[in-house]
Amino acid sequence: MKKIIITGVTGQDGSHMADYLLKNTTDTIIGGVRRLSVKNHKNIHHLSNNDRFNLIDLDVTDQQNVSHVIRKEQPDYFLNFAANSFVGNSWSMPISHMETNSMAVLYQLSSIAEYCPNCRYYNAGSSEEFGDVTYSPQDESHPLRPRSPYGASKASARHIVKVYRDSYDIYAVQGWLFNHEGVRRGEEFVTRKISKNVAEICKALESRKKFTPLSLGNLEAKRDWSDAEDFIEGIWLMMNNPFGPKDYVLSSGKTYSIRSFVERCFLEANIPCYWTGSGLNEKLFLSNYIAEEHNLKDTELLNIDPKFYRPAEVELLQGDPSLAEKELGWKRKTDFNGLVKKMYKNDYALLS
Ligand code: GDD
Repeated sequence: MKKIIITGVTGQDGSHMADYLLKNTTDTIIGGVRRLSVKNHKNIHHLSNNDRFNLIDLDVTDQQNVSHVIRKEQPDYFLNFAANSFVGNSWSMPISHMETNSMAVLYQLSSIAEYCPNCRYYNAGSSEEFGDVTYSPQDESHPLRPRSPYGASKASARHIVKVYRDSYDIYAVQGWLFNHEGVRRGEEFVTRKISKNVAEICKALESRKKFTPLSLGNLEAKRDWSDAEDFIEGIWLMMNNPFGPKDYVLSSGKTYSIRSFVERCFLEANIPCYWTGSGLNEKLFLSNYIAEEHNLKDTELLNIDPKFYRPAEVELLQGDPSLAEKELGWKRKTDFNGLVKKMYKNDYALLS
């Protein structure tokens, strides 16, 4: 029976990883949590009576705390999902992004090197490290060209991970994870924002109530979206790789615009609609034949708000997962349409 520390265990990836390990191994899981004045344990609430799941106080930006935990617990695996993960606010909080996403990795690896060198280490890397991409699809050889303080912080962490792997022979890896979404996704990320708002609009239309249109920024950016639960399995394969510690791209290999996600989600909700205008004046309206039937003429479903644009955008991400598929035998279960459906249905059910 092994001991596994998961940081960021209350978030999407950390909580899915805890579920996965409790189901598929006999190991003990220690979830590291930061005390907040408002508890955010919704994603791990169902684990509160599980004997193999314990929580400890862990703030990844507190070097002393991190060092003490690693020395005392002597984990077999340390999986670091704690991060400032919202790219959009990394321009207003660049130092916090560097401290949480990069310095914290240094604290963890320096403690592992000193006190627990056989511990296997994972850090959550990102396709945002590729940033201003030079070719598609992006693979493990693509240069790091970040466009945001967030992307720069993850690229910096990648160098730290490699340096510790090469210098101290630590099993340390940082996967390149492309966008991964699902029912535990934070509501500020675009996919969840869309699925939640479309579900609310659908409910409002059904009960003939007023609603606020969905407001978005750049509809043309393209992302390679997958189901977060599929990625968890890929990460665990990376941590137990017969080829040794190596960084892999996890992605679907396909890319879709934000606009496509919006259209697919309204289709899923069975709300017929049409676009008008362009740029900042672009809007999505309820189709006339439905609008007239329900006395809802000129009903706006979506508009553009410049405040959701970023100072610098990653226009296109499309990953090449073939190395992970070949060497790790990694497979995905959910495609783009399946993901939109799952997220929309979950948000609709939450309103019932
Ligand atoms: N959040 C948000 N809100 N994004 C919007 C909006 C909006 O209202 N309107 C348009 N977008 C566009 C953003 O400009 C971006 O191009 C795209 O939607 C996706 O934004 P996010 O969902 O916030 O995700 P992200 O791609 O910036 O970052 C996510 O994926 C990375 C991997 O590529 C995060 O999960 C990162 O932590 C992760 O590393």
